[in-house]
Amino acid sequence: MEHNKSFIYVIFGASGDLAKRKLIPALYSLYVNNLLPNNFAIIGVSRTNYTDNEYRNKMREALGKFNETNNTAEIEAFTHKLFYKSLIYDNSKSYNQLALRMGILQREYNISTNTLYYLSTPPDLYGTIPQYLATAGLNDQTTGWKRIIIEKPFGYDLESALKLKDELLKDWKEEQLYRIDHYLGKETVQNLLVTRFSNGIFEPLWNNNFIHHVEVTSSESIGVEQRGGYYDNSGALRDMVQNHLLQVVALTAMEPPASLEPSSIRNEIYKVFQSLRPFSSDDVKTNTLRGQYTASTLKKEKALGYREEEGVNMQSTTETYAALKFYIDNWRWGGVPFYVRTGKRLPTRVTEVVIHFKPTPHFLFSNHANCSSCNQLVIRIQPDEGVLLKFGMKIPGSGFDVQNVNMDFHYSDLTNQRIPSAYERLIFDSIKGDTTLFARTEEIIAAWKFLSPVLDAWKNNPDIPLYGYPAGTWGPEKADDLIENKDMTWRYPCKNLSDDGIYCEL
Ligand SMILES: NC(=O)c1ccc[n+]([C@@H]2O[C@H](COP(=O)([O-])OP(=O)(O)OC[C@H]3O[C@@H](n4cnc5c(N)ncnc54)[C@H](OP(=O)(O)O)[C@@H]3O)[C@@H](O)[C@H]2O)c1
Repeated sequence: MEHNKSFIYVIFGASGDLAKRKLIPALYSLYVNNLLPNNFAIIGVSRTNYTDNEYRNKMREALGKFNETNNTAEIEAFTHKLFYKSLIYDNSKSYNQLALRMGILQREYNISTNTLYYLSTPPDLYGTIPQYLATAGLNDQTTGWKRIIIEKPFGYDLESALKLKDELLKDWKEEQLYRIDHYLGKETVQNLLVTRFSNGIFEPLWNNNFIHHVEVTSSESIGVEQRGGYYDNSGALRDMVQNHLLQVVALTAMEPPASLEPSSIRNEIYKVFQSLRPFSSDDVKTNTLRGQYTASTLKKEKALGYREEEGVNMQSTTETYAALKFYIDNWRWGGVPFYVRTGKRLPTRVTEVVIHFKPTPHFLFSNHANCSSCNQLVIRIQPDEGVLLKFGMKIPGSGFDVQNVNMDFHYSDLTNQRIPSAYERLIFDSIKGDTTLFARTEEIIAAWKFLSPVLDAWKNNPDIPLYGYPAGTWGPEKADDLIENKDMTWRYPCKNLSDDGIYCEL
């Protein structure tokens, strides 16, 4: 591989959980699948003092645990590309030493000055590190590209997101910034674009003439686990809706891009964000709902309530469930409600988009009105990834009774295809310089602007209730009232794509 494709990958926060569980395993997978050049180096950076060998040993251990294949020779070869440098984040000397170390590796291993800096540290350092890198001249692109990859959260609210934007754009250009939203790295999220724009059969129906409403659900069966302290300062709206779910909405709702150029796709995504109808204070009362899980018994075992979880304030009002109804005010979606819900400690872990088509204008068959969940297209993002179409068919026998039937495709049927992990795909794209699947500054700001009235009201308006829901249920019952048609409800998905219902086997 040529010299100009070689690079150094610097991971800040390299001793942390994300580096161990996701980043190093993803880089290793790219390496064993021959997707990296011969000449590259990875430098782990954090405050802890490790030697190169100590860091390599830690990462060997992590690869043994978190990687799907376990080839000792390949792990050995890969870990020899790993180096470590301890650093004090707000000390210029530390960055000068890092620059020296990078220079030595570049010369020793014939590596160009192309460099990626991955920020996997606590978020309050996302502004600091890029500024110090720039002061040390480590953003200079004269002889090779320099890119920064930033983990979520991109700010805590609109004000902090704007501050971070200013800090980043002071010394770096927008095209050097890669904000990772691992949802966009998922094959099934990208498949939203392919399902829509490679088929003549869906797109003509993909508008307010034929679609009654769109539902996006992302549920988790687990609670906050060991992340109670972090989560209690965040909540479902910040943790899931502001980033992942609004991105999924944008891919579902965007216009066809003029081409597959990153800027072309990102422009269309941004237009959706621009068209989101702002929440008025009345909308927040009627079209949003928050909940928090309470203790219950699950499979004969006690499940803790949120306020009993480690690291959580006993009087916490942080939402572990959020449901929103909103509109996208443009020609395609005028009048079509979008319903988005997410929560922890729900019955199962599922992420999916459900397109609910309008019913027929006239019910011809005797029990047709019962077919409220007929005519749904379900795009399952995880698990049992696939696509399901539900429609009415005649029940065999006399008369014309209608029943709901399924036509489904499961990704698992593509048996010989290896699906790369989301981090693998996104890290590979960042090395190639493909920004398509990374969020632009303006999208982030637009998403915070959109959710600000909800965040403010949920924080400051005591009249807005926080509903309890027993752990293991589908959230507050009141969420059903958000759906305006009395014959329609949320879909209650089961683990298997084709099944649904409150009582499904979980
Ligand atoms: N873990 C995930 O699955 C996940 C998913 C999405 C986003 N994220 C985001 O990715 C980032 C890293 O996540 P993580 O789970 O790896 O975090 P982590 O394990 O808690 O911390 C990462 C590293 O940051 C350093 N650190 C901790 N506290 C610090 C402080 N006060 N000042 C400076 N450095 C400090 C630690 O290294 P030293 O003490 O050696 O410096 C630690 O190894 C976070 O911003 C998180 O929100 C994580």
